[in-house]
Order: sequence, then structure tokens, then C-alpha cells
Amino acid sequence: MKKLIAAFALSLLPTLGFASAGPQTLPANIDLRDQASLQNGAKYFMNYCMGCHSLKYMRYNRMAADLGIDDITLRKTILVGDAKPGDPMTNAMRPEDGEKWFGVPSPDLTLVTRWRSPDWVYTYLKTFYADPTRPYGVNNLMFPSTAMPHVLADLQGLAPPVMAAHQTGTPVAEGVGPAVGGKLNAAQYDAMVRDITAFLTYAGEPVQLERRRLGVFVLLFLGLFFIVAYSMKKEFWKDVH
Ligand code: HEC
Repeated sequence: MKKLIAAFALSLLPTLGFASAGPQTLPANIDLRDQASLQNGAKYFMNYCMGCHSLKYMRYNRMAADLGIDDITLRKTILVGDAKPGDPMTNAMRPEDGEKWFGVPSPDLTLVTRWRSPDWVYTYLKTFYADPTRPYGVNNLMFPSTAMPHVLADLQGLAPPVMAAHQTGTPVAEGVGPAVGGKLNAAQYDAMVRDITAFLTYAGEPVQLERRRLGVFVLLFLGLFFIVAYSMKKEFWKDVH
């Protein structure tokens, strides 16, 4: 019995926050109904991420239809090279090149918000910090020693690490300070990163948008059905009483 109680108490520890080592994620607060945010995210993704990361389970025309991007805009601003609207969103980088340049291939990101989480991706893009010991001069709070350069550094600027006090051994960062030298201010950068995260969350499960639209119809139908059923019930029973 004592053992049982001890096991129970131990199993509670993580919920109480005792076992939560590692950095906390920040809430991304994305809104998948916000089409402008998703469109912005798609635009940023094409400009800043697609050079290294593909979205190979997504097709251009499916994305355009879901996000309300018309055919002309799709062809003019999104399709690059000889890509066609029906093509999957792959890029020209070969995995072996990625491996040569960064030591690891840059993963396909269609499902990244599913294997990590939207909050994780949002926090990852916000927590690059200066670290001269790394090949690209940056490190990351969520993904220590990540092989990815800080590709948004010209927009965010560079943030200094906040080092944990009283450390022994190799010093580790426990936070990042305010970034300096970027073209965007902190609020603008947050909004941009939120849009990219929203877009990637949509890409990980495109039917989410459809489900919401269908959900409204289902509720309307249930409402109407209730009224009809109720009036029928009244009609059937009125002579019984
Ligand atoms: C110059 C190439 C390059 C560009 C551009 C780039 N990345 Fe990366 N990214 C990488 C590499 C390489 C990795 C693998 C890191 C590792 O495994 O250490 C990576 C990893 C990631 C991961 C973590 C994936 C995981 O392992 O869970 C995310 C999320 C990510 N990138 C998002 C983005 C976003 C969003 C953009 C655009 C703003 C972007 N990347 C632009 C090279 C790039």
C-alpha cells in the first residue's frame, strides 16, 4: 500500500511542475480562421524557408484554394521556376547538399507542428541567440546546437543569451534577451512568426479549415432538425392528453 501511495505521489510530480526541466514554450495564439494571417505566413514561408525546407505533402493549388489565393497571385508571387499549380511544394535542394552544408538535411516541414507543436515552432523561431562557438554564430533555446542558421536575423536582429546563475560545467542559456539590430520591432517580429506558425499548422492538417466550415453547417442542421422534431412531437401527442 505504501508503495502504491508513493508511486501515485511520484506520478503527480510532473503535473505539479517539478519534473519540467528544459525550456518552456510560449503560447503561439494562432487563429486558423484568420485568412490574412495564413496568407502572410505562406508568403514568408516561400521567401525565407522554402530554400531549405519543402512542404512535400502539400500542393500549391490546394493551398491557394484553402487560403483564398487567386490563380494570378499564385502564379505571379508564389510559384517559382517551372513549378506548376498542381505540383507538390518541393524545393530544388537535394538532401545530400543540405547534409554537406549544414551537417544534417533540413527536414520537410509539412508535419512539423504535429511532431513538435505550434507553440514549439513559434518559440523556436523566437529564441535564436548569439553564440560565437557555433558555426553560424547562433544557438537556440528550444533546439540546443541546431544546425539551422538564424535565417530571420536581418528582421529580428540578434538576441543575447541570458545565462543561468551559479553554474558548474558548460554554461547553458536559460533565456534570451531583447534582440538588437533588426528591421522589425519586437511586436512586428512576433506577428510574423505567429503567421508562419499558423501557416505551418494549417499545412500539417489542411482539413482543419474544412472541418470548421462543416461544423457550422452541422450545428445549423441540428438546430433546424430539433425544431422540426419538436413540432412533430407536439403534433403526435396533442390528442393523447
Ligand atoms: C539555410 C537553410 C535553412 C533555412 C532557410 C531555414 N531552415 Fe529551418 N532548418 C535548417 C536545418 C539544416 C535544420 C535541421 C536542424 C538540426 O537538425 O539540427 C532546420 C530545422 C528546422 C526546424 C526544426 C525541425 C525539427 O527537427 O523538429 C524548424 C521548425 C525549422 N527549421 C523551421 C524553419 C522556418 C520556419 C524557416 C523559415 C523562416 C526555416 N526553417 C528556414 C535549415 C534551414
